[in-house]
Amino acid sequence: MAKSRFMQWIDARLPVTANWEKHLSKYYAPANFNFWCYFGSFALLVLVIQFVSGIFLTMHYKPDAAQAFASVEHIMRDVNWGWLIRYMHSTGASAFFVVVYLHMFRGLMYGSFKQPRELIWLIGMFIYLTLMAEAFFGYLLPWGQMSFWGAQVIVNLFSTVPIVGEDLALWIRGDFNVSDATLNRFFALHVALMPMVLIGLVVAHIAALHQVGSNNPEGVELKKNKANTDIQPPGSVPFHPYYTVKDTFGAVAFLILFCAVMFFAPEMGGYFLEHDNFIPADSLATPEHIAPLWYFTPYYSILRAVSDPFIGVSAMGAAVVILCFLPWIDRNPVKSVRYRSPLHKLSLTLFVAAFLALGYLGMQPVSTLYTEISARLANVYFLFFAVLWIHSRPRGAVFSIGWFIALLGAVTLFDYIYRYSPDNLSLMATSWLIPVAYLAVMLLLPLVTSLGRDKPVPAQINVRGVGT
Ligand code: HEM
Repeated sequence: MAKSRFMQWIDARLPVTANWEKHLSKYYAPANFNFWCYFGSFALLVLVIQFVSGIFLTMHYKPDAAQAFASVEHIMRDVNWGWLIRYMHSTGASAFFVVVYLHMFRGLMYGSFKQPRELIWLIGMFIYLTLMAEAFFGYLLPWGQMSFWGAQVIVNLFSTVPIVGEDLALWIRGDFNVSDATLNRFFALHVALMPMVLIGLVVAHIAALHQVGSNNPEGVELKKNKANTDIQPPGSVPFHPYYTVKDTFGAVAFLILFCAVMFFAPEMGGYFLEHDNFIPADSLATPEHIAPLWYFTPYYSILRAVSDPFIGVSAMGAAVVILCFLPWIDRNPVKSVRYRSPLHKLSLTLFVAAFLALGYLGMQPVSTLYTEISARLANVYFLFFAVLWIHSRPRGAVFSIGWFIALLGAVTLFDYIYRYSPDNLSLMATSWLIPVAYLAVMLLLPLVTSLGRDKPVPAQINVRGVGT
């Protein structure tokens, strides 16, 4: 199509058409994207919602310990449409994590973190960490009881670091207690620094994706024409208009759901906005049960499962950080779960189930039984990565049996050093059967059955009637 004189003028000064083609109309994406491939674009949508609603909230919010709570009430009651803007932002925070968790799950299922997409995954992990920090800083701002005590608990975690811990916590708070100084700096980080970092990371995330091309539910790479990258690879479609239309449809469906929550259940029974946070912060009255919002609770459970505070904090940190290393842990060239062994499907299912169950337990008041279950679920969580590494390159019976003994030994030693107490010995001994059974199924069963065998992967994506 001939370019208008206006576009010629623009393109001579700014490569608009070239970028439109590179990233949309001539960005060839696999034709078999399914439901799970919506969540990246939903995450972009929620990012925009958070920016827009956040800017309007900032116009009326007061980052001052004496006024913050009242200013949020003022937004809810007096500012025109203020309630809508606030609920948009609070629903958006939870929606962000729902969408990002599903987006990460898609990556896990289809092996999108594997070569050549390691950097997309790694940048994604930095986004996830930044998002957690953004949510944590933002949660202090309404200055309710949960804001205050949640921040108190989380900042105190830093004081468990040997030697520098106390000073570190003091430096983060800017005071000996969570106070006006803390609120001011969290406000600055929430509205200025973290959003800038997020935007930079998201741009890098998509640039890295467009450098190597999108993965797909089959986990089979598009066969590109090396000599002429303008030629559409078989089994692909141009991103625009195919996926721009598909994503627009998805966005409308997503927004309907989003509005349903925002208008009819913005508190979501206390999961999106906690009941205690409707009470102003009071440093002299500790709430009976302090728990972070749902998206942090899987890690919170891991923290609570170990009695030694520093080891608990380290286990919690390790649970997040280990995800960064996935591209180097899972070296199996088969990407998609569709062609992975039945045992891999089972271990992925158990991993997700353990994560969800940890999330549930993290919201419950502490009890001996729940702590024990959390510890075993944490075992399953971490063993998933070990098993993934071992399954990447099976090397015979001695290798598998050796790792079975080594991992079981490690779990038992950890129990003995960090969790043992004469009072819960029988409970611990019974629950010990969980890692035993898990490791036996994952490492010993493949020696006597074909359950550990992957399926052959097709040479190219087959989508009838698409591509050339
Ligand atoms: C603000 C948060 C995020 C945004 C806006 C975002 C956006 C996107 C978009 C638009 C895509 C391409 C469309 C798609 O494949 O769904 C994508 C792909 C991808 N993202 Fe994210 N993402 C975010 C967070 C994350 C996180 C936390 C991870 C994992 C740690 C991650 C890992 C990936 C991977 C591996 C791909 C490539 C998928 C493939 O080619 O199949 N992303 N992301």
